[in-house]
Amino acid sequence: AQNERESLFIALNFAKDHFVDNLWNSDEGKNIGLTYFKERGFSEETMRTFDLGYALDQWQGLIDASNKKGYNEAYLEKAGLKIVKEDKSYDRFRGRVTFPIHNISGKVIAFGARTLKSQEKGPKYINSPETDLYTKSKILYGIFQAKNEIRNLANCYLVEGYTDVISLYQAGIKNVVASSGTSLTEDQIKLIKRYTDNVTVLFDGDKAGIKASMRGIDMMLTGGLNVKAVRFPDGEDPDSYSRQIGGEAFKAYLNKNSLDFISFKTDLYISGTVDPIKRAESIREVVHSISLIPDPIKRTVYLQQSSSQLGIEESTLLTELNKLLLNES
Ligand code: CTP
Ligand code: MN
Ligand code: MN
Ligand code: MN
Ligand code: MN
Repeated sequence: AQNERESLFIALNFAKDHFVDNLWNSDEGKNIGLTYFKERGFSEETMRTFDLGYALDQWQGLIDASNKKGYNEAYLEKAGLKIVKEDKSYDRFRGRVTFPIHNISGKVIAFGARTLKSQEKGPKYINSPETDLYTKSKILYGIFQAKNEIRNLANCYLVEGYTDVISLYQAGIKNVVASSGTSLTEDQIKLIKRYTDNVTVLFDGDKAGIKASMRGIDMMLTGGLNVKAVRFPDGEDPDSYSRQIGGEAFKAYLNKNSLDFISFKTDLYISGTVDPIKRAESIREVVHSISLIPDPIKRTVYLQQSSSQLGIEESTLLTELNKLLLNES
């Protein structure tokens, strides 16, 4: 089994090298892939740091290259790189730019691959399937590049997408990882906790992003993390917004707009809401989030804060909190 895992790592590393080589050295890769990344503002250094590449628009570009090297094709399939259907086999990633996903020690375990055609019908990103090496729910994109900085700065920025990680890293914000568009899992929270207890959520400024922030915040509170969040203008994500306003202004924006989870939720639910029933629901939602915090002292501190912020007697909030705690235990 150890040999088999090693063979999968070799296949994935070969694919990474092959895609990187396509990007920098093939005409198609240079004309299409490199041009695309440059238009997105990625520097050569950034592309190298993240091992960005390009999968040629061919059915068997990778398979042929791998065969030439004398590798066993079975491992390409087990690594999620080759699709076998009936009696045909072909490359999973074709005509797309590639984003390798590294494990914490920097080995490639999977890929995300983005289409370049904005009007194309199919999915924007195609990702590796789960394999013996890759369990989606256990990894965060960018963790290998970010882990030291997360520890040093004692904070982790959590974004949704591959390109958010890359843009922020290039802007000098290197303590950043992505959930890759899926809802956060307990294992991912444990992974962050290996490096820090402090997370700042930077999800997309659309309905889906805000909804995911709310859920993610509650999951992380349950996991004992200290959680902040930043809201972006509707339709912007950290990548687009940092490019729109520039790296330095973006850093200032983060510092100015990082709200602890109470202020973030209060802000979203309550600001401008005069309807008393809606206000009551929102207050209950904030207290619900507080009830998830495992540490009783932190719960008390946050309850005091929310009392003054919401303008509600602390004793009233405490009654509600205790009710929730009883129900949950
Ligand atoms: N995602 C995915 N498959 C899709 C769409 C999204 O796996 N069909 C994941 C990717 O990891 C993506 C993340 O969800 O990076 C966030 O999705 P989205 O915000 O739609 O994409 P962006 O990361 O903003 O990508 P881009 O800026 O290239 O459009
Ligand atoms: Mn989105
Ligand atoms: Mn984007
Ligand atoms: Mn996005
Ligand atoms: Mn909730």
